[in-house]
Amino acid sequence: MISKQLAKMLNEQIGHELQASQQYLAISIYFHMKQLDGWGAFFRRQAAEERFHAMKILDFLISVDSRPIVPSVEGVSSDFKSDLDPVKASLDWERQVTKQIHDMADQAFKDKDHTSLQFLQWFISEQIEEENLMEKLVALVKSGINMFQAEPLLPTPEEDHEN
Ligand SMILES: [Fe+2]
Ligand SMILES: [Fe+2]
Repeated sequence: MISKQLAKMLNEQIGHELQASQQYLAISIYFHMKQLDGWGAFFRRQAAEERFHAMKILDFLISVDSRPIVPSVEGVSSDFKSDLDPVKASLDWERQVTKQIHDMADQAFKDKDHTSLQFLQWFISEQIEEENLMEKLVALVKSGINMFQAEPLLPTPEEDHEN
């Protein structure tokens, strides 16, 4: 049986993942508007992935008979000051999500809830990849490379880590 506290945290996390999805979508729009379609496509894939994360948590809650609540999600501006801004913001969000996941794992541990703890392991590994990826992209933009020339260096759909 999942604790009320952990169920609440997982529910909130559905909202965080959907919010991240919106944010990545806004970033993809920013890049598409600059004709940087490679960057745009990459961030659109990230948006889809965050939505998938939300569904994964939603399905988990259903499977443990804890009714998930569909959270409302805010719209996000696609207005950024520089190309570095949205990439840097992505890294910050991913670090924030890592903290949220770890807090939930702490709670599951406290609850002696091995089922939830095992479920959260997947997200713990996923966040290592997500942070590494965004760190690389921040370094790439900071290198001063022309953003069009950087496009072939972005991960391809096949290289994007498996969902
Ligand atoms: Fe996520
Ligand atoms: Fe993520």
